[in-house]
Amino acid sequence: ETVEWEAASYDMGGHDTYMHKEISEQPDAVDRVLRGRIDDRFSTVHLGGLNLDAREARGIRRVKILGCGTSYHAGMIGAGLVESLARIPADAEPASEFRYRNPVVDPDTLYIAVSQSGETYDVLAAVQELKRKGARVLGVVNVVGSAIARETDGGVYVHAGPEVCVVSTKCFTNTVVAFALLALHLGRIRDLSVADGKRIIDGLRRLPAQISEILELEDEIKKLADLYADAKSMMFIGRVRGYPVALEASLKLKEISYIHAEAYPASELKHGPLALIEPALPTVAIVPDDELLEKNRAALEEVKARSGRILAVAHQEQEKADHTIVVPKNEDELDPILMGIPLQLLAYHTALSLGRDIDKPRNLAKSVTVE
Ligand code: G6P
Repeated sequence: ETVEWEAASYDMGGHDTYMHKEISEQPDAVDRVLRGRIDDRFSTVHLGGLNLDAREARGIRRVKILGCGTSYHAGMIGAGLVESLARIPADAEPASEFRYRNPVVDPDTLYIAVSQSGETYDVLAAVQELKRKGARVLGVVNVVGSAIARETDGGVYVHAGPEVCVVSTKCFTNTVVAFALLALHLGRIRDLSVADGKRIIDGLRRLPAQISEILELEDEIKKLADLYADAKSMMFIGRVRGYPVALEASLKLKEISYIHAEAYPASELKHGPLALIEPALPTVAIVPDDELLEKNRAALEEVKARSGRILAVAHQEQEKADHTIVVPKNEDELDPILMGIPLQLLAYHTALSLGRDIDKPRNLAKSVTVE
């Protein structure tokens, strides 16, 4: 065991479950991942353990992010951040899929392994295979000194603190913030302007207070969860930055409530899943106030036209939705961090109202250290 945290951190601290405690800790956790890393003078961030100098950073042609489960979803949002802030082509893939398709390993690609525990076998094995082939691999890891942290060439610690609940919440959020820091760092070495760097830094600094605002919506979200808990299945939709948020929210619901859920890019609805839409299958839609707002609204109309119930997570009330959870707006690039949080609470309260064992869902383990 390489965990350095003190036993006191494992106390439930007045919460009924670790999951609730860990959701509530997110303002502090985000504060921690930011602390000591922001450099206002150059509108950038310093990441001590990266082991990547400016010349090397400029030579990266592609970023490939590998992880499993929730860490894979965080990596998907991370890839979007790297693409938009650093303008480097980036994508995320489940580590096991990557490993078994004999991938082309390219010296100009930066590989990034994402893991809360740092012990997930599929991720570790992908790291080892990449290292053997001479690739540069960084880790975005929570547990200090874990196997993946040790075997990577450098990386960014997520500093979420100990996460006990089997399903990941605060570590997901902090991992995405860690990717925002990495993307900002790479961006400022490449083509991201001082003004945009400052804009993102200001946005990052607003996150802890905005997360606290969202946590205050818990009573409202609990009522919504009670309303939707009778669903046999739920559809989650989003586009671009909102799609991984939809994927993660649907995973969270499945894991702890055992309600079947699917996530689709909203634009794909008409290519098949629209056939499922009816009053018994509610849709949760991620509707940020960004360049895709009108497109997302059109998707709500398509669902409404088939009598589907809609719960929107948005920056303003959505007319077509039956209910809207209104969250504070940040910079477009950082909005996914905030939009995921009410859906953690939705999954939590749905599972609670169904009487599930939230911290230890059936058939699942906190870390999967075998294949
Ligand atoms: C298990 C857990 C998931 C987690 C995944 C990856 O399946 O149940 O919650 O997302 O492993 O874990 P890691 O520690 O690598 O992030």
